[in-house]
Amino acid sequence: MPPATTTPQPVLTAHGISKRYGSRVAVETLDLELAEGELYGLLGPNGAGKTTSIHMLSTLVRPDRGTIRVAGYDVLSQPVQVRAQIGLVFQDSALDRTLSAWENLLFCGQLYNMESAHIKQNIRSCLQLFKLWERRHEPVANLSGGMRRALDIARGVLHRPRVLFLDEPTTGLDVLNRRAIWNFLEQLRQTGLTLLLSTHYLEEARNCNRVAFMREGRIIGSGEPGALIHALGDHVLEIDTPTPAEHARRLGSTLGTPIRLDNRLLFAVRSDQADLGALQRNLREEVHSLQLRRPDLNDVYTWINCP
Ligand SMILES: Nc1ncnc2c1ncn2[C@@H]1O[C@H](COP(=O)(O)OP(=O)(O)OP(=O)(O)O)[C@@H](O)[C@H]1O
Ligand SMILES: [Mg+2]
Repeated sequence: MPPATTTPQPVLTAHGISKRYGSRVAVETLDLELAEGELYGLLGPNGAGKTTSIHMLSTLVRPDRGTIRVAGYDVLSQPVQVRAQIGLVFQDSALDRTLSAWENLLFCGQLYNMESAHIKQNIRSCLQLFKLWERRHEPVANLSGGMRRALDIARGVLHRPRVLFLDEPTTGLDVLNRRAIWNFLEQLRQTGLTLLLSTHYLEEARNCNRVAFMREGRIIGSGEPGALIHALGDHVLEIDTPTPAEHARRLGSTLGTPIRLDNRLLFAVRSDQADLGALQRNLREEVHSLQLRRPDLNDVYTWINCP
C-alpha cells in the first residue's frame, strides 16, 4: 500500500470574519488560509479593510463574527497563547525614538518575558541580519527611515514568532530601502516564518506566494501573482484615442471588450488572437499613443476593479 500522504495543516485560518464600526463596515467578510512558510499579500486602496483585517487576525480587534485560528490556538478564546506565536509590525512605527535600537529591542524582549541571555542573543542576530549592529547604541531618531522600518521588523521577530503580520512595511521608503526590506523579508521566509503583509506597491507584491485584492471590506480577487498575470493574457494593448467608443467597438470584435478609462482603452490580448504587428501599424495613424506591453499585477488590479 502506498504511504498515506498528509496535507500540512494551515498555520492560520480565518472563516467569515467581519467588523463594523457603528454603521461603517470595515471588513464585510474575510476568509483566509495561510500555509506554513507562505508570504501572503493583502492589496487594496485606502480604507479597503487591510489594517482592520490584520488587527483581527493578530488579536488586537475582536471580530463581530467568524472564527480565527493561529498556530493551533483560537484567537478569541486563547489570545495570550496566540500572541506568543505572532509578531506584528504596525502601519505606524512602534519604536521609542529617544531610546537606542538596543534599548528598544531589550524592552520588547522583556515584554515577552524572554530570558535575558536569550534576548541579547536574539537582539544580536536580528540587528546583524538587518545590518544595524554597528548603530545599536544610537537613538532611533538618528536612524534613516529605512533603518527604522528594519528595526520595526526586528522588533516583530525578536521572540521568534511563527507568523509575522506587517502592515505596509515599505510605505514611504525609497526604492533602495524598499528592496532592502524585501531582502530581509525573503530571508525571514527562508527560516520557515509565515508572513502576511499589506502593501500599496503592486510591483513588490509580485514577490508574494499569493495575493488578495481587497475592496470595501471584501476580497474581490486572489491567487498566485504569476497565475493571475498569466490568466489576463500575453499582452496589454493600451491606446489613447480621440474616438474611444468607435475603437472599442471596432477592435472589440477581435480583441474582446476593453477596459475604458476616459480616452484610454486597454485590451488584454493573447498572442494568437490577432496579428499584433499589423494591428499596431494600422492603428498608429488613428490614435494619440499606443503601447503593447507584458501585463503585470497593476493590470490585474485594473481588470479586477473595472471588469
Ligand atoms: N477604530 C475605528 N473606528 C472607526 N472606523 C474605523 C476604525 N478603524 C478603521 N475604520 C474604518 O474602517 C475602514 C477600513 O479601514 P482600514 O484601516 O482597515 O483600511 P486600510 O485598507 O488599512 O486602509 P489604508 O490603506 O489607508 O491603511 C475605513 O473606512 C476606516 O475609516
Ligand atoms: Mg491600513
